Amino acid sequence: MDRIRIVGGNQLHGVIPISGAKNAALPLMIASLLTDDTLTLENVPHLADVEQLIRILGNHGADISVNGRRERQGESYARTIHFTSRNIVSTTAPYELVSKMRASFWVIGPLLAREGKARVSLPGGCAIGTRPVDLFIEGLAALGANIEIDGGYIDATAPEGGLTGGRYVFPKVSVGATHVLMMAATLANGTTVIGNAAREPEVADLAKCLNAMGAKITGAGTGTITIEGVRSLSGARHRVLPDRIETGTYAMAVAMTGGDVILEDTDSSLLETALEAIRRTGAEISETNSGIRVVRNRAGIRPVDIVTDPFPGFPTDLQAQFMGLMTKSSGVSHITETIFENRFMHVQELARLGAKISLSGQTAKIEGVSRLKGAPVMATDLRASVSLVIAGLAAEGETMVSRVYHLDRGFERLEEKLTRCGAHVERVSD
Ligand code: EPZ
Repeated sequence: MDRIRIVGGNQLHGVIPISGAKNAALPLMIASLLTDDTLTLENVPHLADVEQLIRILGNHGADISVNGRRERQGESYARTIHFTSRNIVSTTAPYELVSKMRASFWVIGPLLAREGKARVSLPGGCAIGTRPVDLFIEGLAALGANIEIDGGYIDATAPEGGLTGGRYVFPKVSVGATHVLMMAATLANGTTVIGNAAREPEVADLAKCLNAMGAKITGAGTGTITIEGVRSLSGARHRVLPDRIETGTYAMAVAMTGGDVILEDTDSSLLETALEAIRRTGAEISETNSGIRVVRNRAGIRPVDIVTDPFPGFPTDLQAQFMGLMTKSSGVSHITETIFENRFMHVQELARLGAKISLSGQTAKIEGVSRLKGAPVMATDLRASVSLVIAGLAAEGETMVSRVYHLDRGFERLEEKLTRCGAHVERVSD
């Protein structure tokens, strides 16, 4: 099994091309099930999660071709992928596939809207928390779906004549349930209004693509989304937006090691709250023509408190990385996680590098230390593992991160991007 070996101590200098967003690419790919025409997505990152979803969509009958020509974008390869689901051959998403990646549960929206039925395995819990699906069930029921739970599966059926527009106000913000309800409502009869919708940029990106396919959606990116149902959707061509989590991760890596890096092909408006927090730690962040420049010179790392929140708040997907940064701050900081109940698995691993962190409920108290020392550590989930990489870059000596398949789910060519900026990072295959 691959491991990542990091020898810490080098500053980062150079250019890092930012990939297309994993969390936009996944729902966009799923949206291709809504039409019998071809949806072409550009700037799709090459990640394990994307490959897994390709398998899942294939199971439903999608014909998928990846452009042989790889588009050059700095040093990163952004792929163009064509998805054509002329016929849906199966409306069942089996446990073996859904359990590998939670987002695959989202196929329930398009399958139900287009075929009038879907049998989708419950995703189960995962390392970062229980992650229930009650909001999906309530939301789809508001569109007239009949939903039953049977043998670990959700059986959803639309009434004769299809789903009907409805009004649903989420009691709690959910990115995935917003994606699903929005997709399902595009083909419903009449108008749907979603209240307390997730405002994440990936939701707005999905709506932009659906509108290009002929949907009538307004308000995506705000708390209220209105969808006027249409009879059918057509194909379209859409470019996946930049990955704000990858952007923030590398910005934090520079803030941690010191240096001067341009993050290319990204957009600061996607992560203003996180960039502001990084600025407060002492890094300088400015906009360039094509992205963001992050500089930290000799100044130390100042302690900064953060609380995770749905967009536009501080993203939970950057919480672990920020904790990595805070382990070397010049004082005491607090990080409160409000989205997932168990997203602190990186704490024990960071402690192996010499970090001083104590947990009290959903808040971590981090006492900055002047030096971290490399050690063998274990990746536990995607974002937790990259926080170990960030800490390893600033630790003395060697850090060996095992179970890197977590990293491969969400970071495209991580070791190459960091190495080009002067870091000592390599993949070791046993
Ligand atoms: C998306 O997950 C992202 N995944 C996650 O990224 C991200 O952490 C999360 O949004 C929050 O920003 C993708 O986009 C593929 P939620 P999602 O539904 O949609 C609760 C990463 O590392 N909830 O917004 O599954 C839930 O338990 C990942 O890339 C219910 O209670 O998250 C959580 O506490 C991991 N009932 C909160 O809502 C439901 O029916 C927010 O979850 C659904 C969710």
